[in-house]
Amino acid sequence: MSTSASAREPNPKNFVPDLHLLGIRDVIYKTAGIFQRDHKLHLLKVRCTLRMKELGIGLLRDYFQYLTKPSGQVETTILLNGILVGETRFFRSMPQLDALRKIVLPKLVAAKSTAAARTLKIWSAGCSTGEEAYTLAIILLEASSLLDDWTCSVLATDLNQNSVEHAKRGIYGESSTRNVPPPLRQKYFVKDATGLSVSPEIRALVSFQRLNLLDGRHLSMIAKTDVIFCRNVLIHFDMASKTRVIEHLHNSLSPAGVLFVGHAESLFGVSNNFSLLHMPAAIAYEKTKTSLAKRRLL
Ligand SMILES: C[S@@+](CC[C@H](N)C(=O)[O-])C[C@H]1O[C@@H](n2cnc3c(N)ncnc32)[C@H](O)[C@@H]1O
Repeated sequence: MSTSASAREPNPKNFVPDLHLLGIRDVIYKTAGIFQRDHKLHLLKVRCTLRMKELGIGLLRDYFQYLTKPSGQVETTILLNGILVGETRFFRSMPQLDALRKIVLPKLVAAKSTAAARTLKIWSAGCSTGEEAYTLAIILLEASSLLDDWTCSVLATDLNQNSVEHAKRGIYGESSTRNVPPPLRQKYFVKDATGLSVSPEIRALVSFQRLNLLDGRHLSMIAKTDVIFCRNVLIHFDMASKTRVIEHLHNSLSPAGVLFVGHAESLFGVSNNFSLLHMPAAIAYEKTKTSLAKRRLL
């Protein structure tokens, strides 16, 4: 039986999902790798109900059919935009940023010193509204004595189209910028009526794209990245999706590349292709071997 749209949030204790809601959960899992656990299904239903109202669809069964027909990709994108959790802020993890500045960047510069091109590429994978990517650009600009004759860039990607649009605008409020050290706030932000806008100098280093981390074909185009920040993203995936994403990220790293994940995240049991890089206040993962997928291609 299909459920008719209701604006009220169902009571989780008595909530019994119908088959079509479970089908929608599968669509989301297959598309984004995110599995909505049973205790969150009532929230998924609220999201679907909102969309159904906007579309004038009364039954969950019809919405499920709308999502799964060949043209349903657009609607899946819109539904995902409302589901993906995008909490973030500037300078979110100082110990990791210090480790990047003091240890990882000098190590990479030394490892690549004999390379023909002096380029350094950083990727913020799962960048949400862009704060992490712009923070990384500030770190690069502040390391100008080390990176004097290097060409640096930051690629920033997220599956949520709304977040990517916000990131491109580059205008933020107090809560996002509260951790920015005052001298850097003065140097790299311009205050106007709409908020704090990132300076053209930072923007010039960063490019944004909508990208699904499960999309192997798209990810295979991102190569020779020196540092990946994929923080607070893996936590939303189950083991199968995590393994796929980490395999892709491994392939995208340069031979000396380094991966940072969030504090609550780990590659334990996910991949054997990285070794732990212990630093005084942070850990990261260094690329060690060619991954299985790559070996199969060789
Ligand atoms: C909590 S935010 C993390 C933002 C930032 N990395 C940080 O730590 O501050 C998680 C982000 O992962 C993105 N995400 C979730 N699944 C994804 C997928 N399959 N592909 C790309 N991005 C995804 C979400 O849209 C969300 O913006």
